[in-house]
Amino acid sequence: MKVRGTSLIMENSKRAIEESFPIVEINRLAIPERNAFKPIYQMHKWFARRASCVFRAILLGAMKPAGTDIMDEFYKDHTHDPDTNGVRILDPFMGGGTTVVEALRLGCHVTGIDLNPVAWFIVKTEVEPVNIEDLKAAFKRLEKRPTSTGKTLKQELLSHYKTECPCCGAGREEADIIYTFWVKSAICTISTCRKPVPLFSDYIIAMKSPTVRYLPDYKCNSCSKEFDLDIGRASLISEESLMVNNPRDASGDRRSNKRWARYNPIEKNAKCPWCSKTIMVGPVNTVKKEKKKVPLAVLLCPHCSSVWQYRGTLPDEATCPVCSKSYSPHKGNISEKGSFICSSCGVKDKVINSIRKLPEDQLLPTTPYAIEGYCPECAGNGDDQSPLPWREGMKGRGKKEFSHLCNIKDNNGKFFKKITPSDLKRYQDAEKRWEKENGDLPYPKSEIPIGEKTKSGLIAHHYKYWHQMFNPRQLLCLSTLLKAIGEEEDHILKEMLLSGFFNLLNNMSDFCSYIWQRDCIRQIFARHDFQPKSTICENSVWGTSIGMGTFSSLFEAVIDGKEFNFKPFDRKIFDDIKNKYIQSEEIIMGDKNNCSLQCSNSQNMNCSEKMSLIITDPPYAGNVNYSELADFFYVWLRLILSKNYPCFAPEITPKAEEIIENPTRGKSATDYKNGLIEVWKRCNENLADDGLMVFTFHHSEGSAWESLLESLCNAGFVIEAIYPIHSESESSLHLMDKQAISYDLIHVCKKKVNFSEEKQRSWAGVRQEIRRKAREEIKVIESGRYRKEKLSPPDVNIILIGKCLELYSRHYGQIVDYKGEVVPLQEALTAIRMMVEQIVSAQRPLPSELEHIDPISYVYLTCLCDRKEIQSDEVHKTTRGIMEPEVLIKAGVIRKGRAKRGRTYEVKLPDERYKELQKLFLSTRKTIDQKFLFPEMEEAKFDRIPLVDALHYLMGLAGASENIVPWLNEFRPIVPQIRVSLEYMREKNPTFREPINKVLSLIEV
Ligand SMILES: C[S@@+](CC[C@H](N)C(=O)[O-])C[C@H]1O[C@@H](n2cnc3c(N)ncnc32)[C@H](O)[C@@H]1O
Ligand SMILES: [Zn+2]
Ligand SMILES: [Zn+2]
Ligand SMILES: [Zn+2]
Ligand SMILES: [Zn+2]
Ligand SMILES: [Zn+2]
Repeated sequence: MKVRGTSLIMENSKRAIEESFPIVEINRLAIPERNAFKPIYQMHKWFARRASCVFRAILLGAMKPAGTDIMDEFYKDHTHDPDTNGVRILDPFMGGGTTVVEALRLGCHVTGIDLNPVAWFIVKTEVEPVNIEDLKAAFKRLEKRPTSTGKTLKQELLSHYKTECPCCGAGREEADIIYTFWVKSAICTISTCRKPVPLFSDYIIAMKSPTVRYLPDYKCNSCSKEFDLDIGRASLISEESLMVNNPRDASGDRRSNKRWARYNPIEKNAKCPWCSKTIMVGPVNTVKKEKKKVPLAVLLCPHCSSVWQYRGTLPDEATCPVCSKSYSPHKGNISEKGSFICSSCGVKDKVINSIRKLPEDQLLPTTPYAIEGYCPECAGNGDDQSPLPWREGMKGRGKKEFSHLCNIKDNNGKFFKKITPSDLKRYQDAEKRWEKENGDLPYPKSEIPIGEKTKSGLIAHHYKYWHQMFNPRQLLCLSTLLKAIGEEEDHILKEMLLSGFFNLLNNMSDFCSYIWQRDCIRQIFARHDFQPKSTICENSVWGTSIGMGTFSSLFEAVIDGKEFNFKPFDRKIFDDIKNKYIQSEEIIMGDKNNCSLQCSNSQNMNCSEKMSLIITDPPYAGNVNYSELADFFYVWLRLILSKNYPCFAPEITPKAEEIIENPTRGKSATDYKNGLIEVWKRCNENLADDGLMVFTFHHSEGSAWESLLESLCNAGFVIEAIYPIHSESESSLHLMDKQAISYDLIHVCKKKVNFSEEKQRSWAGVRQEIRRKAREEIKVIESGRYRKEKLSPPDVNIILIGKCLELYSRHYGQIVDYKGEVVPLQEALTAIRMMVEQIVSAQRPLPSELEHIDPISYVYLTCLCDRKEIQSDEVHKTTRGIMEPEVLIKAGVIRKGRAKRGRTYEVKLPDERYKELQKLFLSTRKTIDQKFLFPEMEEAKFDRIPLVDALHYLMGLAGASENIVPWLNEFRPIVPQIRVSLEYMREKNPTFREPINKVLSLIEV
């Protein structure tokens, strides 16, 4: 029996994540979570947030001993768990705070660092304990705060977004504006024309197919003909005169050839569509009704600016009911991406050219063209104003009797309408007030700095100052609101109000557009960049009971987030029911005893105590430009925060120290890598010797991942395990099966201790070990370590690669090939990928003589020798991700295709390679030293030349009727491999039969 020694203790102290991870279960939870983050993570916008369930599982896996069932632990209460309580955890790239929040929940002591002050503010407000009642009281104080006009803040902000209800409001501007729609105009670049051209891609403002209850085949008591009697009045506008029906199919879905009429609930009658008589209708409440969908489109008329409605299938050509002119509702002035056609002179040009012709300080002009409004009266909600505090207004909903025949009642009192002169005047009043009062109001005055994202998205479009991204009405309202928030005396509550303001900015600029499919705003950072919009949607700042993305609704999100601190929950998926939330007893509370948040550069970090765990999500090359995007929020937040926090003193967020690839700022891929190495080194210094570092990192085609692994090895880490997490949706899971390689990987690393004891190891020997390890591991996987569910082959692949990398990284820098040269990571990784692929793929295995084949020849034989070309987007799938196409091009086996604009790769034929191979082999011939072939199980290479080159050369000689025999002598040590390879190729590709037979006939004699 083995004596209880250090190695045994080390074995026993293994943590669960070093051995396995519940990949299938966590993926299943992560996908829905990414579509709806938990409330605490919805309090603020941050970029590329990670699903928190992944981090909860990582934390548990890193703290619980090996063999623990992590999914069992996942739903347990860890409030008093000695395995998690007080464990010191560091996140050097905390971003939106996932690690910090999840670790606090488990009772750990957390240190979170981020360079970006916005990230720091987010995490601080996420973990800060606040009393919900105090929070509501702060909101009430805010809404009542007096403004310069004498109105309360709420009244003042709502007053800028009022309009006349087209149904009930003649002469009174008492309905609320939900959205104002604006269009930018390009100025025709022809000097003799210079007409403004509104940049509409089409004239469809909104489309919706509401469900309508109706009585089918209702019989007219006058003419006895039948028609659909619609009980509901489906409409998105109010005015009857602006409604046009498709003569064929306006009745609704699957009722297309029916005539129809609308029921008048006040008069209790309807007008027969056959005889035009008004007929009385008996009681409709008791009769059973059917349901149908009625397609509606709200259109803008480019000739007279009317906003009207079309019912039924929208035709290519429609006639405006106001000016009677016809136009195509589907076709605007933007012909293709970025080009417009002048409606006056017909000349086509790029929008950007039109901007370039403007003076530098001028933006393209914008004009409002429609409004979506809400009338509480027509909704039946009486004088309901706002759902907060606390949703009293909701009480009356739907209960009121209707005094008037209303077309928009069934649309919850919402309507679209054109811009009237009084709407315009209200806007201009706000504009004038902004001019007059902006000196007393806080708003960002600084210039937008040139950067990777700002250059093309903002500056090229003449946005020179941050405030230019908002219209004057928005500036007036935002700065009035911000000023009032600044007056809150309790600074924690002030920061909570500011969190609501933070998220409001997301929904409030010229960079927001309208998603008519969902009747909501597309926020500025729907993509991770600044993307100027040609049609803009302006949201109301305070908002009413049905508004989304308004201050009142976003403050409610802050409350929900803060409630989550005391009542967190997790999603659980059951086999029979869809999924359920499991309430937890744990709480999330950061104070100075258990949580230290720092806004600083992790490249210089130095923690006072050693950390047990480092759990993080580092930046990924130039994928998200955190600091440039965060500036959009920062320039506003600092107006309140700079007084108390030095990190908010500068005009913009730190750029020079950011770890990122950013060519505009002169930051290369190498700078990025060096930055990461620096942080890994600090991590190594600050991690306890028996600690673990676990982090997620995106993985896709290309070499970024290789340099990540290299940076870890260089910083003194051993890679212990790697687990795949699917980063996007179910559909990308589907892609995974096709081996499109793009997912997040969890990396589990340990500190490499006892450097000095290291001896050199032969690559051949390590390869043997790797192969053995991969075989053992696949048995473990098959025996169900990852639970009952079957992992997909690409997942198995990744896990095995991770386990194999451990052997390589443990001896990093000490593994040498038979010439005594250190084996670089790229070469080792390629070999590992190939070995794993060999073990995992059962389809068409190579003959056993080829077990030690080199990777290029492996890929050629298994994936390429039977095809002429590969589409470039399939090359990874075809070559199973073993190596990049560039490597195969350099090796001479494929070339970039000439046809199809280079979107293919062509597989070279042996004959085509003959000349170059002849040169190669003639030059190496005399230097070949037979003993260099096959030293201790080295790869079946001819010196450093891949096997495939020898195969092609022999076939080339055969094709050219040259003497093959001397070369077979030359290749003698690898002739057995040559023979089986040629047989294998002949079977896969019959066109090779002739030259192969020739060579084989010489081998066999
Ligand atoms: C991928 S994000 C983290 C995302 C986070 N896990 C989440 O779920 O929201 C990476 C973070 O690294 C930060 N960062 C970049 N360079 C840094 C540096 N030198 N020191 C500290 N943090 C840095 C960025 O500001 C960014 O917030
Ligand atoms: Zn009304
Ligand atoms: Zn009739
Ligand atoms: Zn018109
Ligand atoms: Zn023109
Ligand atoms: Zn009405």
